[in-house]
Amino acid sequence: MHEPTVLFVDDEINILKALQRLLRADEMNVLCASRPSEALELLERHPAQVVVSDQRMPELSGVDFLAQVRERHPDIVRIMLTGYTEMKVAVDAINRGEIFRLITKPWNDDELKATLRQAFDHATMKHEIKRLNQVTREQNFKLQDMNRNLEAKVRDRTKQVAEKHEQLRTAYIQTIRALSEAIDAKDAYTRGHSERVGVYASKIAREMSFPKDVIERVYIAGLLHDVGKIGVRDAVITKPDRLTAEEYDEIKQHPEIGYRILEPVEFLRDVAPCVRHHHEWYDGSNRGYPDRLRGDQIPLPSRIILVADTVEAMTSDRPYRKGLSLDKVVSEIHKFTGTQFDPKVAEAFLRLLDRDGDGFVQHDSKFDIYSFIQD
Ligand SMILES: [Fe+2]
Repeated sequence: MHEPTVLFVDDEINILKALQRLLRADEMNVLCASRPSEALELLERHPAQVVVSDQRMPELSGVDFLAQVRERHPDIVRIMLTGYTEMKVAVDAINRGEIFRLITKPWNDDELKATLRQAFDHATMKHEIKRLNQVTREQNFKLQDMNRNLEAKVRDRTKQVAEKHEQLRTAYIQTIRALSEAIDAKDAYTRGHSERVGVYASKIAREMSFPKDVIERVYIAGLLHDVGKIGVRDAVITKPDRLTAEEYDEIKQHPEIGYRILEPVEFLRDVAPCVRHHHEWYDGSNRGYPDRLRGDQIPLPSRIILVADTVEAMTSDRPYRKGLSLDKVVSEIHKFTGTQFDPKVAEAFLRLLDRDGDGFVQHDSKFDIYSFIQD
């Protein structure tokens, strides 16, 4: 704010001189004008906080002059200096809110000084309110700006996290696939077997309208169902001739070995039981192993994998035979539905086969479980 300045307007020079004398010792600039037009000009060059005007002047009345001041400089505090004869005009002006105070002629020096002090305080307060409003507005703008930046940052971070999540999921699946390939590598004839079982099983699970997380678990359990074969002697696994009873017992260990391999892995804990029970029979008969669970006791992914595993094994070439036709597969599934296979799983598989025919067993090397789930 500029230094305190008051402008007096009066056509009587003596009055202006008296006012100047009165305020000489006070810490304020005192400007004087004997005509309203001169006063308006002066205000353009010298900012003042307070204007004190006489009412009765030849050129323009005080009320009209102060109205012009108000229009051009709305922040200036306006005071009227008037004799008793013009009191009514001045009081009206006060009532209309056009002027701040009235000083009567002849004035009392102390009262005049007090009124001026109030006028300067009023001007300071108005100025301060205006400044604070401005600060508030600027801070609001800044806040809005910060909010916008923050929103953009949150969007960026969310995108980065989603990308990281995607990368981790891909790495997770790649790791599991590498493991499943290691299992199949024990036997040249089973190359790709685990991957195909995973794909067939997830197709059946999706046909049964299971939620995405279940389909994903079925796929992963399919990839890993024979992981326990790592713990079975190669000689037994690749033996082309009929297995002895002992050798068959050894093979039958693989679901439990697989379970023991996967169980300690935190993110495969759900998958471990599915692997353990993928050779159980639906009827709970002793042809199933290792625990002879029946019906719903057998984890759903295990029941699905059993069908997918059978289909894959039958349609693949073996050292002693070519892959069998789908007709043979269908009759085998029919034959063992309700004993070995869960009828609902068998039904879903047969539905898929009806619809897709050979397409069901066609191998897509680019199979991606996550885009498959989204379809
Ligand atoms: Fe198996």
